[in-house]
Amino acid sequence: LAAKLQAVGLEVWTDVAGVFSADPRIVAGARQLRALSYQEAQEIASTGGSILHPRSIAPLRLYRIPLRIRCTTQPELAGTLVSSDLAGDAPGVKAISGRTGITLISMETLGMWRQVGFLADAFRCFSDLGLSIDLVSTSESNVTVTLDTHAHAIEAGTLEKLKRRLEDHCRVRIIDHTEVVSLVGRKIRAILHEIGPAIEVFEEHRIYLVSQAANDLNLSFVVGEDQAQRLIQKLHAMLVRPARDDAVFGRTWEELEKGAVIVRPGPEPWWVRKRSRLLEMAARAAAAYVYDLETVQAAADRLLGLDAVSRIYYALKANAHPDILRVVHDSGLDFECVSIGELRHVLELFPGIDRQRILFTPNFAVRQEYEYALREKVQVTLDNLYPLEHWAEMFSDREILLRLDTEQARGHHRHVRTEGTHTKFGIPLFELQEARQRVESCGATVVGLHAHSGSGILKEDHWCDVAAALQDAAREFPATRYLNLGGGLGVPEKPGQPPLDLSVLDASLKRICRAGDFELWLEPGRYLVAEAGVLVTRVTQVKGKGHARYVGVTTGMNSLIRPALYGSYHEIVNLSRIDEPGKYVVSVVGPICESADLLGSERLLPECREGDVLLLAKAGAYGSVMSSRYNLRDPAREFAI
Ligand code: LLP
Repeated sequence: LAAKLQAVGLEVWTDVAGVFSADPRIVAGARQLRALSYQEAQEIASTGGSILHPRSIAPLRLYRIPLRIRCTTQPELAGTLVSSDLAGDAPGVKAISGRTGITLISMETLGMWRQVGFLADAFRCFSDLGLSIDLVSTSESNVTVTLDTHAHAIEAGTLEKLKRRLEDHCRVRIIDHTEVVSLVGRKIRAILHEIGPAIEVFEEHRIYLVSQAANDLNLSFVVGEDQAQRLIQKLHAMLVRPARDDAVFGRTWEELEKGAVIVRPGPEPWWVRKRSRLLEMAARAAAAYVYDLETVQAAADRLLGLDAVSRIYYALKANAHPDILRVVHDSGLDFECVSIGELRHVLELFPGIDRQRILFTPNFAVRQEYEYALREKVQVTLDNLYPLEHWAEMFSDREILLRLDTEQARGHHRHVRTEGTHTKFGIPLFELQEARQRVESCGATVVGLHAHSGSGILKEDHWCDVAAALQDAAREFPATRYLNLGGGLGVPEKPGQPPLDLSVLDASLKRICRAGDFELWLEPGRYLVAEAGVLVTRVTQVKGKGHARYVGVTTGMNSLIRPALYGSYHEIVNLSRIDEPGKYVVSVVGPICESADLLGSERLLPECREGDVLLLAKAGAYGSVMSSRYNLRDPAREFAI
């Protein structure tokens, strides 16, 4: 209508303050876009942004009619201007968008190589069935395309028909549940070098297709639906970085919505209930880790409810606080130790403990540590053939376990994935026969096989895959009674994310292992303690720098290195002002002299004042145990309640 009327301008009034750099439901720090060119707006609309219909832009562009998107509830805001004025012509990403419901069709053939007409034949199958192809990528033996099932609903049976027709020309695979994540902006090729760390997670998960638009306005990745949000968040954090008075990026969604009460989805965490006690404790120390023993107990009880698992060894590397170990011990859980220090710690706390309740699983430890463990009669797991080869006499007549590398690396970050040839752990499957010979020649007996694939795994059937691999390997070692499936049971980082469903895990294990064949063991660390621990710290100073706001606190990476080391997310709340609405989006930083000393970025917090107590949640696992005295600053002290 605006085009027909040759209007001087078009305003679209809606319920959000313009086009944003990402979906604010996925990225809390999504920024309002002040200005876009028609092409960029077109690209955002067609790659998933839902404010503008993709077909609405062309007539405006043709008649050069500026479009402004404004918000009915906040009419004072300028919103987003779409025009031919090339605001911000420098290379850069303006938005990261995602489209769900994508179906991928992979067509494999050798016949295509230097053949005329393969693509034409294949594509005719799509067009005859009224299917519109979205992204395409080709190689000499494979063509992969996506169908956008949201934009064009596909009738039941159509995909089957398509498959049958395509099978005349090639081998066909249909992959569902994928999502397209697109970077939209200008001269995208120029920023490729910046996105490496964001696609790091895809070392483990597949990227099905990468497509760079011919107009250099977008770069798209097709990934599994379960990975898309994380990729969008990472890409956004890396690429959307406004300068002071930025012409393109405006305020964040949270800032525009400020005044909104911060709502946490999911059940109320223990630290809300015990807030006044935490505030008291925070007043006594500059910074403190506080562990809630009831929460440890609850996690232990959940694990003890696994019917398929006979023994649970707590991996005390996650947190070795004596009060926590007492809860674990008294619940009937056992201990997994990785060093002589951890062994001594357990033996000092529980001198009379049945030695079968201790499992020693070291990696590249010095010979004397194995001697100590054998002397103490704890169970020993070897993860290398070297000890059998060079210290054979030590293991004669001993029952041992072997740690295998079943090549199923998983985990929240590449640093915590412990299988595959690029990691130092475990005996590779191709060495199994040699392992058997070495074990026999030194007179030892393998009674158990072990694998630990990584840490922070939220896929319930993972341990069942490990059990299957170990069951296979057990054919080499007929005396095997135990399969230790490792730890790695994940705890979601953000409020509202679905937790690991132990009943699903249990059911999958029951399916794979017939009762009586083997005893199944687990050795979780994080699962028992992550939620039970919080780090409380006090605000020291605040600062603004362009668009960036910093809230400084008394401790940083010297107490909690996980954000710096793995980019981990810990929820941060201002415990002193828990009922106040969020006001500013800030980065929370410690006092350490490194730019990596960042505990959280883009967090919506109430206005923080000197002395306020900030709380970092889910810090009970790998928090205090990984702390240091870097800068000669003492890390947070520990208290159990
Ligand atoms: N078993 C073995 C052989 C392990 O190496 C580990 C952890 C576990 C069990 C316990 O894994 P969990 O259930 O806690 O995921 N610092 C990292 C985690 C490193 C895990 C090292 N090994 C983090 O902060 O995420």
